[in-house]
Amino acid sequence: MSEPATVPTTDADWYAADARSIAGVERLRFFPQVVATGHGCTLVTPEGREVLDLSASWTATGLGHGHSAVVEAVTRSVSSQAGGSVLSGTHPEAVLLARELLELVGTTGTDRRVYLGHAGTDANDVALRGVRQMTGRSTVVAFENGYHGGLGGSMAVSGLHVAAGATADPHLRLVPYPDPFRPWTGDAETLLAATLTRVEQELAGGDVAAVLVEPIQSDGGVIVPPDGFLRGLRELTQAHGSLLVVDEVKVGLCRTGEFLAHQAEGVVPDLVTLGKSLGSGLPLSAVVGPAAALDSPAASALMTTIGNPVSCAAGRAVLGQLRDGILAANAVARGAQLVAGLQRYAASARPGAATVGDVRGRGLSVGVELVVPATGAPDETLTSKAVFAGWGLGIVAYPVRGNVIELTPPLTITSEEIDRAVDLLADAIDAAATGRVADEDVAAFSGW
Ligand SMILES: Cc1ncc(COP(=O)(O)O)c(C=O)c1O
Repeated sequence: MSEPATVPTTDADWYAADARSIAGVERLRFFPQVVATGHGCTLVTPEGREVLDLSASWTATGLGHGHSAVVEAVTRSVSSQAGGSVLSGTHPEAVLLARELLELVGTTGTDRRVYLGHAGTDANDVALRGVRQMTGRSTVVAFENGYHGGLGGSMAVSGLHVAAGATADPHLRLVPYPDPFRPWTGDAETLLAATLTRVEQELAGGDVAAVLVEPIQSDGGVIVPPDGFLRGLRELTQAHGSLLVVDEVKVGLCRTGEFLAHQAEGVVPDLVTLGKSLGSGLPLSAVVGPAAALDSPAASALMTTIGNPVSCAAGRAVLGQLRDGILAANAVARGAQLVAGLQRYAASARPGAATVGDVRGRGLSVGVELVVPATGAPDETLTSKAVFAGWGLGIVAYPVRGNVIELTPPLTITSEEIDRAVDLLADAIDAAATGRVADEDVAAFSGW
């Protein structure tokens, strides 16, 4: 036996035990995080230390930890469980969740279906197969530094994974995403037109099944594209007989202030994928789209626990909390407060303070880009030290694309918690910039 029989007691012992038992393929670590319980925006370590969660588990606990509506729905469902899935029989929670999603999520056409899955990864995989099935075309256009999943077909169309050496889908064409802070060509003004021209070149051959796009490129660095980007993609895909798939897995479900982020541009996609927040802590994802993409081949997306009743009950509880728009309004107000606080910090010329190159975002999807003061180049070392220091000071926030601290707290976060978040983030960045985190401290955390 490699693991001692005793149950760890300290935070450090739990973390060490994790390294000896949990597979490395599912560990993406930036500091020695171990938590035993949670409530609201707070996570609590086994030793009882409270930390402020500014990630919401990469948005997967969108309503916060232990939200009463989710607790009630899950408890009810699991204590009289209606089987395990919709695979070979149905149950009311799945049918009702699918109907609610059809009502809330606008996509083209009238004959529509919902796939209920486990994670963004399988939702995007199913969407990809669906668009190929529906159009009879193979090619998919996606974006450099995009993220759509961590296994199989979704991974193979994710620009970030492909750049890191994953095998690309043989029919994938990657186009640069329009990043106004670091434009791939020209300036912020000409960026949108240049990007849409690139997309049009890819579509012109008439062999593209779909364009797959994140409305905000999250893991690619919290990139908010210029207004008109999604409208442009909608027009181009329509003109060339291709479908538009919008991946709302990370920023959908009120995080940006809209129910779905793409609604800010008034576009109607052909397919929408959802995940993370949909189960607020339980594994649940969905694809909403045409029956022609999602009905056939029959029985071709099989996992034994798809449409799990407990997860579906959680999903319905989440949608119930989002319906009145109060959490969407909170996301807008608290997001503006967070950005303003961080911009004040960025402008403060404290001795030794790091250079914050940019603070950006929409609602409660916010990115803080750390740069080398002299050159403006991405400062990945500083960023990894800042999030490490943050854990010690009492916050959970992760880096994306190396030098951007992503902030996606639960939608329920309060004004007082945002003030605390700004202070702690400022302290964490200052600690990293003034040499209070050693290279050895972060050496064990390779992260992405
Ligand atoms: C935009 C987007 N799509 C899909 C996924 C994959 O979701 P999951 O990790 O739940 O499979 C992610 C995960 O980060 C994501 O950010």
